[in-house]
Amino acid sequence: MTTLVISSQKGGVGKTTVAVNLAYSLARRGWRVLLIDADPQGGVGFSLSEKAREAKGFFNLLDPTNDKDPRSLIISTRLPEFRLMMCGTADLLSGGEEPQDTPELRDQLRSLLSQFSDHDLIIVDTEAGIHGLTRAIMAVADYLLLPQQAEPLSARSMPRLLRHIAALRKELGEDASTPRLAGLLLTMVNGDDPVTGEIESDLRGMLPSELILESRIPRDPTFLNASRAGIPVALLHRKTPEAAESFDTLAAEVEDRIDLAKSSNEQESDEYTRLMD
Ligand SMILES: Nc1ncnc2c1ncn2[C@@H]1O[C@H](COP(=O)(O)OP(=O)(O)OP(=O)(O)O)[C@@H](O)[C@H]1O
Ligand SMILES: [Mg+2]
Repeated sequence: MTTLVISSQKGGVGKTTVAVNLAYSLARRGWRVLLIDADPQGGVGFSLSEKAREAKGFFNLLDPTNDKDPRSLIISTRLPEFRLMMCGTADLLSGGEEPQDTPELRDQLRSLLSQFSDHDLIIVDTEAGIHGLTRAIMAVADYLLLPQQAEPLSARSMPRLLRHIAALRKELGEDASTPRLAGLLLTMVNGDDPVTGEIESDLRGMLPSELILESRIPRDPTFLNASRAGIPVALLHRKTPEAAESFDTLAAEVEDRIDLAKSSNEQESDEYTRLMD
């Protein structure tokens, strides 16, 4: 079982859209995927169905008074490989206070995630910002995927994000092999807009170019419609929209980068890890 966390410093960069559609594309490729919504605002539930928005979920499981079997909160979909867990009732946690990133919380997360080990991949959608619960989730993740909106000056937030990740890695210790960077993903790309090229060259000046994924997610109104209709974009039309194809390309690239074919427990040399240090 591999854990991939989608995170960003900034809000509204397309994390939830990426989480939902990438999870679906990977499930279509045959991987057993569990998509967990760890954003208290519940973007995944919003994107998927009205009914699911009512469901108990991830935050209920973090509540110390929880007596639910975590597996009972997994929601099956028509695609058997694609399963979900909603955010649930977020204000149950610590009397509504935001949880802190503590060793206890990390242990709790590890033990919770280990109960879903019959999946090949757990994708976790997080809220914007790298602190509190999101930081704890990143600390226990195998891989991080960082969506970056293709807009002028957007690359400016990247050094700060990378510093946060480097600090997290340092705190985890010299020997820590995770979390690794699955890569940085440009989202909401406008066709052959020259701004995209500028952003890419800015980013390449900041980090090793192999960390920038070749796949890009185009800006496409279909994504708005898919959110409203409550389904991954691939299900929106009889003919697969072009926007969905970008997620199939991304799924193939991510699958390769996170080495899904191998167990995430296997020890292996990792160039991405070293590049972050
Ligand atoms: N590639 C895209 N093309 C057009 N619109 C998009 C695209 N990706 C996302 N959107 C739209 O942009 C908005 C923000 O996207 P999304 O909710 O995925 O971002 P987010 O990073 O999860 O936001 P938050 O930080 O608030 O959780 C949504 O209305 C979504 O439908
Ligand atoms: Mg979101």
